[in-house]
Amino acid sequence: MNKIKSDSMKNKLLNSPISFPKTLPDGYHYIEDEPVYDPKKHLALEYPKDSTSLNDLGYSNQEISMCPTNFGVSGPARLLSDEGVKVLMQSAQSLRKYSSSGGERIQYLLRGCVYRSRFLRDLCLCPNVADFLSEIYGIPVAPHSIPLHLGHFNFAPDDLNRAVDKWHTDTIGLDYVMMVSDPNQQVGGQFQYFLGTKKEVQEIKDNNQPMPEDRIISPHFPGAGYIIVLQGNMVVHRGSKLKEPFDRVTMVNGYVPLDTESPDPSRFADVKTVDPHQLLFPEWARHKAWLSKGKLNRLIEELPFTDDKDLIINELKNAIQDVETAISDLSESGSGEQNFYGDLEK
Ligand SMILES: [Fe+2]
Repeated sequence: MNKIKSDSMKNKLLNSPISFPKTLPDGYHYIEDEPVYDPKKHLALEYPKDSTSLNDLGYSNQEISMCPTNFGVSGPARLLSDEGVKVLMQSAQSLRKYSSSGGERIQYLLRGCVYRSRFLRDLCLCPNVADFLSEIYGIPVAPHSIPLHLGHFNFAPDDLNRAVDKWHTDTIGLDYVMMVSDPNQQVGGQFQYFLGTKKEVQEIKDNNQPMPEDRIISPHFPGAGYIIVLQGNMVVHRGSKLKEPFDRVTMVNGYVPLDTESPDPSRFADVKTVDPHQLLFPEWARHKAWLSKGKLNRLIEELPFTDDKDLIINELKNAIQDVETAISDLSESGSGEQNFYGDLEK
């Protein structure tokens, strides 16, 4: 398809953010007595001082061309004020009773919270935060079109021999990880990422090798309410083992590029193992329909006059590919499968 000519045209072709569902799923209700989210009171945005690109991690130009941005992972950035941290921690504690097993990878996780906490919903959907992240990613982004990927909490495992979260890439492309509990109070349990590519980690795993320690980065979070921004499907990361018991709480919030041309990195099989299907199935369908909508809009705007039927057919097929994928995913009867690397220790 024709290359976009100008910024104004490019903006015109950006998809608009998906609307949040107007009704709650059966069995969900909002907790009462939460403060109302107020960006002026609860945010304290400070940009990260540095970031690492996919290039820096060792990805090829060809691999990067399949991604919406060359951005890899940021240094710590501040998101919440002290007041914001306090409210979010209280909400996390009220919601903890709904946490479930994340299978082998994570012991306790909590998803679907934007249907249980108005504060969390409004924080995760906040346009000020989306603008802040757009600046960091260098592309326009919006809160993720799958609400299950908004406001995901991880809690510490009971067993100190178990990593908080094993080495993995995320099941979505763009997200941040926030320290909700105070990282200065915990011993061990750091958020860490690998300075390299997924292919390298797969080779390490296949050869039963430990991760090379000199290539593991443990960013220093100055306090609670700080985040690391990442292209989570490209950066291999984990929550390491705690050395002492601690109520470690982190929150992950997902985003999507508003330019829907890049291939969708979101994985269905992984989340099928952990998410309630009454939420996941329609959310997956809406997400994929939203992606196809963006692609169809672009086709409507850009398709040139031509008698090249094959070009037109290919463009139409490409535009509806996401919907076709959703139909095939939803037609599968399997229970899904989690993809991660494991502990990769000696
Ligand atoms: Fe992750």
